[in-house]
Amino acid sequence: MEQTIIVTGGAGFIGSNFLLQWLATERTPVINLDKLTYAGNLNNLESIASNPLYRFIQGDILDRGLVRELLRRERPRAIVHFAAESHVDRSILGPDDFIRTNVNGTFSLLEEARAYWTDSSEEDKKQFRFLHVSTDEVYGSLAASDPAFSETKRYEPNSPYSASKAASDHLVRAYHHTYKLPVATTNCSNNYGPYQFPEKLIPLMILNARKGKPLPVYGDGKNVRDWMYVGDHCDAIRTVLAKGRVGETYNIGGRNEKPNIEVVETICAILDDISPHDPVMPHRQLITYVKDRPGHDRRYAIDASKIERELGWKPRETFETGLRKTIEWYLHNDAWIEGVTSGSYRQWIATQYSV
Ligand code: NAD
Ligand code: DAU
Repeated sequence: MEQTIIVTGGAGFIGSNFLLQWLATERTPVINLDKLTYAGNLNNLESIASNPLYRFIQGDILDRGLVRELLRRERPRAIVHFAAESHVDRSILGPDDFIRTNVNGTFSLLEEARAYWTDSSEEDKKQFRFLHVSTDEVYGSLAASDPAFSETKRYEPNSPYSASKAASDHLVRAYHHTYKLPVATTNCSNNYGPYQFPEKLIPLMILNARKGKPLPVYGDGKNVRDWMYVGDHCDAIRTVLAKGRVGETYNIGGRNEKPNIEVVETICAILDDISPHDPVMPHRQLITYVKDRPGHDRRYAIDASKIERELGWKPRETFETGLRKTIEWYLHNDAWIEGVTSGSYRQWIATQYSV
């Protein structure tokens, strides 16, 4: 096998942060297989586009022939699987693509990985890894007094998105149990940071606040998410790839539980400080409570003690440092914002927030 790794979904938010970090730290060859849906954006990867260690292939993980040929030709030592439909609200409006990519796509990739791995030498077999990037949402919703999710928490997915990710996790588990494919799965909490598509809470609030548009908070604003700076998540994935035990799952989280309203108010306060010439000041006047998301999970919280204890990983950023960094990034990257807020993005905002 070669040193090369294949990343799926590397033009998305976390995948692109992972590729940038990979080439800055590991400096070994990496191939990005991405279909370029609305969420895939090659502008995220401009700074590495001509790096000789990086190659981009536009393609669908469901294209078995393409994946087979790629594995045969490149003989990668690992697949890091990010590609997915990732937005809960979109899964509520139209679940089809979530089942197609997250369930059938992961199945296709597993089948091709299994065929490739089965035909490899014994030494190569030991080296190979299939790392599946998943979410804490598969565990369901917590009450205020419940303990944080551990890796043994029962799966109770509540949205079409989380159900599709849960199905993919189960397939990955089954391929290890049945065929001994050397897999590992990570289940991470809510990410934020540079290059996040502004359909998700934090970038949506930053962009709307800067333009003087309403900040739509679902329900009573007291739903809790456990926030993780994307660079720390990528670091954890690299750690699991290098040192994780085969067949294991690792929860990733930063002990940053916050009610949504507190997140939005903190964004407003930081913007008051660093962007005082925006059209509406103070920004918090823009907060608008809107109808709740159907089936909205109340609270997520991650117990990350397994990865901390076994692999020595710990997040570097606190919520305060990570959020300020993120807001500053959005303030200094107008061209990127302009690129993602045209066309289909405008249509999505009009559909989602029209009532
Ligand atoms: P994203 O929506 O920003 O990016 C997804 C990427 O996958 C895009 O580049 C898209 O073009 C690509 N893609 C979609 N369908 C494809 C297909 N059929 N074939 C090839 N490429 C395809 O997602 P993200 O937020 O970066 O999330 C990446 C992964 O991490 C997902 O698996 C998600 O479930 C998981 N995750 C996300 C978070 C989060 O907070 N964003 C937290 C935990 C886990
Ligand atoms: O927990 C990990 C998950 O986090 C990932 O698996 C998903 O891919 C990712 O999208 C994210 O899911 P959430 O649904 O938690 O993220 P989102 O940014 O959509 O919403 C965060 C919280 O903010 C949630 O409670 C809903 C609320 N919200 C969201 C939007 C977009 C609002 O109140 N208003 C909004 O306009």
